[in-house]
Amino acid sequence: MGGEALQRLEGDGARRAARDLVAGLGLGASVAVGARPRVVADMVATVDGRAAVQGRSVALGHPADRALLRELRTAADAILVGSGTLAAERYANLLDDEQRARRVADGRPPHPLVVTLSRELTLPLALDVPLFDEPGVPIVVFTYAGEDVAAPVLGAELEVVRLPAEVPLLASALVALGARGVRSVLCEGGPTLLARLVLEGGLDDLLLTVSPLLAAGDAPTILDGAPFAEPARLALRDVHRADDHVFLHYGLAR
Ligand SMILES: NC(=O)c1ccc[n+]([C@@H]2O[C@H](COP(=O)([O-])OP(=O)(O)OC[C@H]3O[C@@H](n4cnc5c(N)ncnc54)[C@H](OP(=O)(O)O)[C@@H]3O)[C@@H](O)[C@H]2O)c1
Repeated sequence: MGGEALQRLEGDGARRAARDLVAGLGLGASVAVGARPRVVADMVATVDGRAAVQGRSVALGHPADRALLRELRTAADAILVGSGTLAAERYANLLDDEQRARRVADGRPPHPLVVTLSRELTLPLALDVPLFDEPGVPIVVFTYAGEDVAAPVLGAELEVVRLPAEVPLLASALVALGARGVRSVLCEGGPTLLARLVLEGGLDDLLLTVSPLLAAGDAPTILDGAPFAEPARLALRDVHRADDHVFLHYGLAR
């Protein structure tokens, strides 16, 4: 099939642009005052479940997968990403000029808020995360670290939100984001962060791209960490394909 279009595997089998698929998620809808934002995770895994090959996810992708991620970034108010992923994937240039222009035309800031967590405020160096040195990129890090731990000086706009150690860091971060008007969050992983997100009740939708690869090895699956007392149950919402990649949209069954 080629290109960036996604073919629906249910119903009419229509081919859709990533932009239409993302529009169908309704990320711009308002959420109740005081509630946490809608949270959609986008992940990719090999058929045998590995979330990385040689420490990165880039080899798993497809043009349609990259188009989907770009559209999700354009639509979301905030991007939530773990510090392990920021460094492993050397995050940089999340949006291009056309995407920024579209956001501005919608009356929104040109760049989504980039949100990360660091319990002790031990962020990777800007050398490993070029995004940390991009002027005009708003970054907020939620931490348990007290005022005695100084915030690093970055080229990007860094805000540090210090939370008390008694609260769950991720769930509290989401409530704080909701309070400042963030309606939608795109979670880009990695596996440690995604497991925390599920555990702390913060995930609404999972977009999982299955990449036609078998990798073996010891790379994590899309969730990493201690087993849950009860597995979270999902409900299938939609399925698309592009060439041999399959795009699964699950919602959390409530
Ligand atoms: N296939 C995919 O779709 C995909 C997507 C993203 C990443 N990846 C791959 O995944 C790997 C990186 O993922 P990763 O799992 O190592 O790291 P990660 O999930 O990106 O980062 C872990 C984050 O969780 C925080 N954290 C850890 N324990 C926590 C807790 N109990 N409460 C709150 N926050 C906590 C960490 O901060 P502190 O430890 O500082 O507190 C850190 O910010 C790379 O190989 C990357 O290529 C794959």
